[in-house]
Amino acid sequence: MFGNQKGGVGKSLLTTMTATALGSDPLNLRVAVIDLDKQATIYNLRQIDKRAYPQDTPEPFTVFKFKVTDFQKSIGEIDQSFDIVLIDAAGKLDDDTDVMQQEISRALMFTDVLFIPFVAGFGNLTATYDYLNFVSQIKEIRQLQQRKLRVYGFINQYRNRSRANDFLIQDIEAIRQTEPFDVLNCKLHDFTTYKDADTITSLYNPLSNDSAKANFSEFINEIIKTIKG
Ligand SMILES: Nc1ncnc2c1ncn2[C@@H]1O[C@H](COP(=O)(O)OP(=O)(O)OP(=O)(O)O)[C@@H](O)[C@H]1O
Ligand SMILES: [Mg+2]
Repeated sequence: MFGNQKGGVGKSLLTTMTATALGSDPLNLRVAVIDLDKQATIYNLRQIDKRAYPQDTPEPFTVFKFKVTDFQKSIGEIDQSFDIVLIDAAGKLDDDTDVMQQEISRALMFTDVLFIPFVAGFGNLTATYDYLNFVSQIKEIRQLQQRKLRVYGFINQYRNRSRANDFLIQDIEAIRQTEPFDVLNCKLHDFTTYKDADTITSLYNPLSNDSAKANFSEFINEIIKTIKG
């Protein structure tokens, strides 16, 4: 899962791009995306993309839309039928609600690896910090059940020579002092090609020299390595 309660940090976009890359040549894994967000970003996008492409165009991943409350009933079966399952959820935490009563906990209890996008210049990091604090409580519960949740942060929408990104890197280091998590080496840059990604066509081509594709290749390779553990 790509998760962060902060909005607009790239959760849905990166879920889509990762699912497409894993489900297309050369990997061709069986990939499911479960859309748990009330906005149904990916589910709706797929409906639009379906109309834009010829009917027999292969879809690199299957999209399921569920209410968070129905998720638990279906996850077992989906997990059996696919190599990899990505979950897109609204990360928003409710104040004054216990950890296990939070909606997102239902999904996080079944997540093996959580990737947290950090974006520079996006207000302060309080929301991300609160989210990490919440995640570490989930991690403790999972640890008791011998079901480890692995958590990785990474920088999204990175811009070279940006002061805001220098500050973000310092902030991440500061947060890691109290809420430890690993950080991916690859920073995902801000590319228009990414912004325009659809749910059918992969940007991922290992042979391409285009800098956006090279950057995403590096990202997806690190994601795969991380998931494999
Ligand atoms: N690396 C990137 N390069 C270019 N555009 C990006 C990048 N990451 C995210 N975006 C763009 O930023 C916007 C917000 O991304 P997205 O909708 O994926 O965020 P989100 O975290 O899912 O938000 P929400 O909390 O509303 O669900 C989108 O227009 C997306 O295309
Ligand atoms: Mg989203």
